[in-house]
Amino acid sequence: MGRGLALILGDIFFPPANTKTGGVNIMNINLTAKERTLLEDQRSHEEICVQKYSNYAQQASDRQLKALFQNHAQIEQEHLNTINQLLSGQVPQLNQQGGGGGSQQQLQGQQQQGQQMSSILLQQGSAAGFQASDQALCTDMLMTEKYVSNAYDTAIFEFKDPQVRDVLNHIQKEEQKHGEAIFKYLESKGMYSAQ
Ligand SMILES: [Fe+2]
Ligand SMILES: [Fe+2]
Repeated sequence: MGRGLALILGDIFFPPANTKTGGVNIMNINLTAKERTLLEDQRSHEEICVQKYSNYAQQASDRQLKALFQNHAQIEQEHLNTINQLLSGQVPQLNQQGGGGGSQQQLQGQQQQGQQMSSILLQQGSAAGFQASDQALCTDMLMTEKYVSNAYDTAIFEFKDPQVRDVLNHIQKEEQKHGEAIFKYLESKGMYSAQ
């Protein structure tokens, strides 16, 4: 009897079956109106992050900063792709086992690569030729990342599906990494000293 009830509840709370698309396991979800609105907000935030990092990569004087911003622009594009996937009702699965190469796994791989690149770029940095305009770009992106990270933190509490929460949490950690990379860049240039 208890088992029967659990099965019925399972059907109610987790109705859509998993599907396989091109060999990738994807879980389907139905979003509430509120969840959809929150994801649409995050989509616009990610679009702005892609635009800003791309534009600022062009504007930056320092080559090291250009490369850092280009790298972040690519990761923001991945965030945007993931949010669009969620809005289409599909949850990329974290921590896939036995290969398969899900998009979230691919996302993690690219982001790890991005982080490694950031640290290499920082190591290569020299203290010469830092411009005030570059500092202004960094300050603006730090503010933007702080805002976006905070928006993810607030949104996560509204989602009923734990896997969606995990995906959003993963993105939020990436936003914090972006802020950290910019902070380290500024610090390496003597423009930002921790107190
Ligand atoms: Fe992002
Ligand atoms: Fe970011």
